[in-house]
Amino acid sequence: MNISRIRAAKAERRPIAVLTAYEAGFARVAAEAGVDAFLVGDSLGMVVQGRRDTLAVTVAEMAYHTAMVRRGAPQALLIADMPFLADATPERALDAAAALMQEGGADMVKIEGGAEKAGVVETLTAAGVPVCGHVGLLPQQVRKLGGYRVQGRDQAAARRILEDAVALERADVDLLVVECVPRELGRALSQAVDVPVIGIGAGPDTDGQVLVMHDMLGLNDRPPRFVRDFMPGAGSVAAAFAAYVEAVRSRGFPAEDESF
Ligand code: KIV
Repeated sequence: MNISRIRAAKAERRPIAVLTAYEAGFARVAAEAGVDAFLVGDSLGMVVQGRRDTLAVTVAEMAYHTAMVRRGAPQALLIADMPFLADATPERALDAAAALMQEGGADMVKIEGGAEKAGVVETLTAAGVPVCGHVGLLPQQVRKLGGYRVQGRDQAAARRILEDAVALERADVDLLVVECVPRELGRALSQAVDVPVIGIGAGPDTDGQVLVMHDMLGLNDRPPRFVRDFMPGAGSVAAAFAAYVEAVRSRGFPAEDESF
């Protein structure tokens, strides 16, 4: 998988199965199960490091985990998260992108935020760094938001998120993640931009889905509503990954009761 193939998948209406990964062993098995792309999410702060949110994750930690995933899945399209405040200025973002791509082996970096991040995205893309945007619920803003809540429920908020997506596309992102929005907004976003839109808690009509690996393997004792545990009945981790890929590709995931 690479950027042009993932864009072709959208054009051909082939749903894209993305999964988070944090180390080599699970990444290898998931790649063999057919996962299209991996995200080394700063969610590692929660699911690997056991923190209450993602804010303490550093660029060095992201590069360390990205390098492990790269070794496990050498051919995969690999996206690495810019951790909290690493993109606060274009200069910091360039330094972080260098660490994630040159030390970690990432193909693309993901930045949380909307139109206000367009300037940083432009600096990165002009320097040859492929960028994935992230709109909707922004976990790095959790202290400001006061919790992890569905975003874009009313018309004005939905319009702002759509405008954010368009601004990021103009800044030349190659991919967009949308998190925790009503199904109708997930669909509208995918129609509004040409770049593939990967949803998490955004309904079944986005161009692809992403889940946190620990969640879809049933390791979260308080999973959000949009998570499906693929372990029961699978018999092995490899079979659970394959079931996830199949469910995304057939649009069997997420179901109505897994959407907002
Ligand atoms: O950090 C992460 O795992 C993410 C996903 C939830 C999209 O950003």
